[in-house]
Amino acid sequence: MLKIEKDHSLIKYTTLKISSQADYFAVIKNKSELLEAIKFAKDNQQAIFVLGGGSNVLLTNRIKGLLIKNEIKGIQVVKKNKDTILVEASSGEIWSKFVSYTVENKLYGLENLFLIYGTVGAAPVQNIGAYGVELKDYFYQLQAIDFKSGKEKTFSITDCRFGYRDSIFKNKFKGKYFIYSVTLKLLSKPNFKLNYGSIGAALINKGIKKPTAIDVIKTIEEIRNSKLPNPFVLPNAGSFFKNPEVNLQIFKKLLQQYPDMPSFPVSRTKVKIPAGWLIEQVGLKGKKFGPVRMYEKQALILVNEGGASAKQVLNLVAKVKLAVKKKFGLDLSEEVNII
Ligand code: EPU
Repeated sequence: MLKIEKDHSLIKYTTLKISSQADYFAVIKNKSELLEAIKFAKDNQQAIFVLGGGSNVLLTNRIKGLLIKNEIKGIQVVKKNKDTILVEASSGEIWSKFVSYTVENKLYGLENLFLIYGTVGAAPVQNIGAYGVELKDYFYQLQAIDFKSGKEKTFSITDCRFGYRDSIFKNKFKGKYFIYSVTLKLLSKPNFKLNYGSIGAALINKGIKKPTAIDVIKTIEEIRNSKLPNPFVLPNAGSFFKNPEVNLQIFKKLLQQYPDMPSFPVSRTKVKIPAGWLIEQVGLKGKKFGPVRMYEKQALILVNEGGASAKQVLNLVAKVKLAVKKKFGLDLSEEVNII
């Protein structure tokens, strides 16, 4: 029988390590435990919250309801075609371990997404991305269970409405489905994307002309480790904000005032401006506010030295947003899910 605990502390379940509590808490390892948890919530009129790796979450309040910690594991190849392979992973698998599995088994495509913290189930929710690759580039479909009816539903790539760190599961279907498994369409031959930032240059520096997938993930690891704090050493939730998308006309005006402003093209009419650069420009990079600060090597990452409260985090978030708005007239929005 599923173990459901009352008044459970959540501090160890999120990488930001903010103290919080759930009215009810259960760890689930398979579908029958999930259905048991859904039944418990229904019978006791409790709301359900799902937590994967907790790497993109800020808990600001007590969870009034049942918090499910997803530990459903399993990876299987479902179909092999000539050039592509469909691989299904259960949602409680650790994303980075899954990427390692694909590399070990010569399934190509996910290399640049190595070392993103969190679970497979959380990956489509925010369409994780790094170094020019997004989950949606290799997404095939996902299986989800409707919390209300308990019925299964398949979501295709169009059903998911992927956007920049966005999907239907952050909007219309927020809190409505439990993502049970994700199927990716991977490649049987390498098609590395090395032209983003310093990946190609780093490989050439190492004298590697024809990289293997292992070379690529090792390079990604080195680049990430040089800038991004390991959440198990210095608690953080990755990029705290999204990079704002700005109209080309507005960007041109900003560029007159700030000629060094970096940007990435999004479409013919829009560019993305790195929020890390904006935060650095307003003087908040590395500046401490009690136990919290925007990280000194990458200002987009909010770090907790230890013991921070949700209020201290939210105060810094408000400071950052206000300063960026004041100086650049731009609105930053949070990438982290604030619950
Ligand atoms: N920059 C600064 N100061 C800073 C940080 C960045 O000037 O403190 C400038 C850099 O010089 C560079 C630009 O901003 O010109 C972009 O920086 P970087 O390549 O580090 O990437 P990012 O745009 O800050 C995004 C993702 C990361 C992902 C990297 C690499 C978002 C919100 N973040 O960051 O994703 O790892 O690109 O692809 O899109 C995450 O989502 O949690 C995450 C870490």
